[in-house]
Amino acid sequence: MAFHEYESMLDRPTNLKISDFSYNERLLHVILSAQFDQKMLNKLIRTADRIRALAKSKEGSQFLNSLLSHKRALLYFTQPSTRTFLSFAAACQTLGMAIQSVQDVSLSSEAKGETAFDSVRMFSSYYDMVIMRSVTPNLAECCAYMMNELGRDSRRNTPIINAGAGADEHPTQALLDIYTIERAMSFFSPKDSSQGTLYEQLRGQYPDLSKGLDGKTIGFCGDIRRGRTVRSLITLLAKYKDVKLYFITANHEMLALSNDMKDRLLKQFAEVREFESFEDDLDGEPVINSLDCLYMTRIQKEHNSNNLDEDFGQIDFSKYKLTRDRVAAMREYAVILHPFPRDSDFGEIPTEIDNDKRAHYFRQARNGMWARAALISHIFDVDGSVADFYDAYTLDKKDYNESVLG
Ligand code: NCD
Repeated sequence: MAFHEYESMLDRPTNLKISDFSYNERLLHVILSAQFDQKMLNKLIRTADRIRALAKSKEGSQFLNSLLSHKRALLYFTQPSTRTFLSFAAACQTLGMAIQSVQDVSLSSEAKGETAFDSVRMFSSYYDMVIMRSVTPNLAECCAYMMNELGRDSRRNTPIINAGAGADEHPTQALLDIYTIERAMSFFSPKDSSQGTLYEQLRGQYPDLSKGLDGKTIGFCGDIRRGRTVRSLITLLAKYKDVKLYFITANHEMLALSNDMKDRLLKQFAEVREFESFEDDLDGEPVINSLDCLYMTRIQKEHNSNNLDEDFGQIDFSKYKLTRDRVAAMREYAVILHPFPRDSDFGEIPTEIDNDKRAHYFRQARNGMWARAALISHIFDVDGSVADFYDAYTLDKKDYNESVLG
């Protein structure tokens, strides 16, 4: 197998590819964020919430552990990763899957000239799922096509999960980002009581505030052009109603939205606007004050050429870094996200912001574990068992509490 064999498959529009990655209305391979439709997102979010709740107790976690104890996953990560790797590993372990990893190809047979396609085909004969991250664009997608061909030949069609491919896509990051925004925008607080809820309090201050992602204003700051997480998240945001996108970055072709992308987004979103600083005016106020969510990104300097370093030397990047004052000006309920790693030399989010209640990026990383566990349980068709167990378990607890307390 080689890339050129898949060229005609790769060149197809996204909507024609989606059915190639599902089986019986379930995701089989996860390659593109466009595979998640609104119904599936809602289902995955519910499953993630149930898994997170069950994992808190010994009984719940023993149940989760039994679900996929007959399955094995291989993590094939040949591009640096900390969170994605570990959260996938933890997600598999939560569901009882055994895991193994290949991270350094200099120690694998690829050092002897084996292709990545041969490697993945080999992995698929030992494992029941291959989760992969690679610098090579489209590698995961081509591996999924290879698996489908094997499946048509009555051989194992092992699920391939794209954990970041080249510059193109990072669908599971987009899933956990949506999960994080949805949770934050449900305005649920453990302190909610019959006397009042966080949502009611916030409505006092922001009368138009609604629950959920519909109608929200999402700001993106930093490296808009080169970040795969931004692209994948935008694909999912387009599935919600009346979302506004504000892009805050330097007016440079390697950082800002491309014209093509802008034209496409204008058709999908209620509003798409570009700003050159957090303080740019929007209806008489700095734009940062209007955001429900601010998605910060790191400048992807590993992709810089020498010329670009010089160009970037002319840009005043202090305009794209958070400060205490800027955060204090934001809406009280607004969420600050970052896919991480943040760049401590550049300082797009200084650590002094970490304790602000708007800083959700550590929570976001933890949500990755639940969102990925939900996704894996969907792929292996055990999400229904999660729901049944959760319902019985919570009902049991409620009955017990009522009989004891009542
Ligand atoms: C991102 C990635 O690898 O695309 N990180 C991640 O997966 N959480 C973002 C980045 O490297 O900037």
